[in-house]
Amino acid sequence: MSQESTLKPPFFISREEELQLRIAADQLPLSPVITAPTSFDDFARQLMIPNTVMELARKASSIHFSAWETEAIRQSLHAGVLKQILDEKGQKDTSHPPYIRVACTGKGDYDDWVLDQNPHLHVESDQEHKGDYGSPVVLEIWPAGHYSPIHSHGSTTGIVYCLTGQIEVMAYDSLAWDAKKLALITLTPGQCAWLNDQHFAVHKVYCPMPEGNFAATFHVYLNKSELPLLLKSSGTPNTRDIFEFVDENAPHELGQFETYSDLSWKLLRREMSRIAADLM
Ligand SMILES: [Fe+2]
Repeated sequence: MSQESTLKPPFFISREEELQLRIAADQLPLSPVITAPTSFDDFARQLMIPNTVMELARKASSIHFSAWETEAIRQSLHAGVLKQILDEKGQKDTSHPPYIRVACTGKGDYDDWVLDQNPHLHVESDQEHKGDYGSPVVLEIWPAGHYSPIHSHGSTTGIVYCLTGQIEVMAYDSLAWDAKKLALITLTPGQCAWLNDQHFAVHKVYCPMPEGNFAATFHVYLNKSELPLLLKSSGTPNTRDIFEFVDENAPHELGQFETYSDLSWKLLRREMSRIAADLM
């Protein structure tokens, strides 16, 4: 058996390559991670991170889940609404184990479906569309071992802020199955990865935690037209409405996905409250 065939998803790298990519992440002149600097080196490597990104990170820096919120999400992933959505998504797309996008603004694709299955969660809906896409603020929930395909965030500027658990982010130099891997980072609560059109726009995200755990990440994406002191982009529609990805299945063609979310925050909050009430 060749070494190639023994390499495992999601990153298909050997232990040696993993080590090299983790060292690379610590040596890039521009840090792919925003964290409280603990050394002059950390400070220097974060100095040139764009101010807009630093501002997003600063605004997110106090957000956290309480112990009961974390436990409620764990229970919902085990036997609640989040499990229902995961099962449904996993059947629709078998190319990778699914994660859940929660729209912090607007409506999720599965909102109506979830309400039909769980009438006790009913909330008034004033929207006629199935879901909204392009939310600038998204909560993502990653069960242990689940991962995204390689995808590009185009020309958006954003952050991936780790709220709970542990998440790995592999940065690539381009959007292709065999793209060069630039760096592998692990985020723990309070740490941020960042991206813009110049840096770290293409990545794959993976939850390396043991079975039964999960990670939650908080994402903010700004379009160019929303950035201060920058001209509006022209030409290709590089907004957060559509992101491109590489199919996990051979022949690994490029595709596009409209960034619909699965669930709205108001419905997830209702589910978490229901579980918390049952726990008391
Ligand atoms: Fe992403």
